[in-house]
Amino acid sequence: MAAPTKKRGLAVPSQRLEAIPPYMFAELERRVEAKRDEGIDVISLGIGDPDTPTFRYIVEAMREAVGDPEAQRYPSNRGRREFREAFADFYLQRFGVEIDPVTEVIPAIGAKECIYNLCFAFLDPGDVALASDPGYPVYTGGPVLAGAEAHLLPLRPELDFAPDLDTIPAEKLDAARLLFINYPNNPTGSIVPEGFSERVIELAERHEILVVHDNAYSEITYDGYVAPSFLAMPGAKEVGVEVFSLSKGYNMTGWRCAAILGNAEAIKTYWRLKTNVDSGLFEAVQLAGAAALRGPRGEVEAMCRIYERRRDLVVEALRDIGVEVDPPKGTIYIWAPVPSGHTSASFAEMVLEEAAVVVSPGSMYGPSGEGFFRISLTTPDELLREAVQRLRVHLTP
Ligand SMILES: Cc1ncc(COP(=O)(O)O)c(C=O)c1O
Repeated sequence: MAAPTKKRGLAVPSQRLEAIPPYMFAELERRVEAKRDEGIDVISLGIGDPDTPTFRYIVEAMREAVGDPEAQRYPSNRGRREFREAFADFYLQRFGVEIDPVTEVIPAIGAKECIYNLCFAFLDPGDVALASDPGYPVYTGGPVLAGAEAHLLPLRPELDFAPDLDTIPAEKLDAARLLFINYPNNPTGSIVPEGFSERVIELAERHEILVVHDNAYSEITYDGYVAPSFLAMPGAKEVGVEVFSLSKGYNMTGWRCAAILGNAEAIKTYWRLKTNVDSGLFEAVQLAGAAALRGPRGEVEAMCRIYERRRDLVVEALRDIGVEVDPPKGTIYIWAPVPSGHTSASFAEMVLEEAAVVVSPGSMYGPSGEGFFRISLTTPDELLREAVQRLRVHLTP
């Protein structure tokens, strides 16, 4: 048998890397940089990275933890007892979910790492991961990098942005090993529809699919809505895990602090992969994360009020320019239809060129995002007001 031809060129990527599009925000950042280099004062409403600092009590806990020599050594991938117990207590108090701190929770270096590595822990070539479309890009990039297939589940506006589980082809269900879901949802801002989790659990049981609920936004909700944990549903732990990230709820995006909770066997498999890949989450960050979860709720609630105020500001401005949107009950995003005559990309392009404001074209989140754009609420009030004013001036019909 002939030896495979070696690729030429030091920096030529692997085929698996070539198989996925460039990470979308990297491209957006590049465009904004280029505009700024031209001297244009661009306001970005693209990326969802909280603009307010990590709460003081968390920073204080980190200061203390970082000086502890014990916390400076290689962490274990199982995580510190304090971290696992803080999660168990938080899940009980916040969601009414019982978590065994010994077997049902371990740290992750952010939800992104966790979702990516779950793909490598569970997927082989020929396997399928079912992924919401539009959705967080790692639900599709992860499976492809792992040599498997991502089968897209369009989120149907008429089903409150849930996928129609009855229309998944039988052969995809047979091959599916993972199902990614996420509520409150990025990018649509929708909350979990009534009865959806129950239907997911039933499907997962029937087809032996591990459900991965990406819980990145449960703490950011509005109008009195309180988001549940997927694990609170009867039977969820038998078929699923939940990835809880502290990035958005506690303004900790840079800290890379998350956990995976739920099905003990699945967590063990993920842990086994991680012991070969990374050396765990810095223990000082684990201790700060534990302090975050045990801290007063007031800070989180105050942050929700900030986003709620910004949400109302943006929704009103969009209505003024003829874009009708339902105010979301959760997340830090507004998902809005593009005005008629535009594609997602052409609208985002026009907003950038005419108003020097960046919005994300919905198509960046998958083909079913076409026809929408996303605005992130993580811009300081003054700048957000300025952006909204520019939209009014330049885009009023
Ligand atoms: C749905 C969703 N999952 C995961 C993440 C990433 O979270 P982390 O910062 O914990 O990696 C994001 C970030 O935007 C997200 O929107």
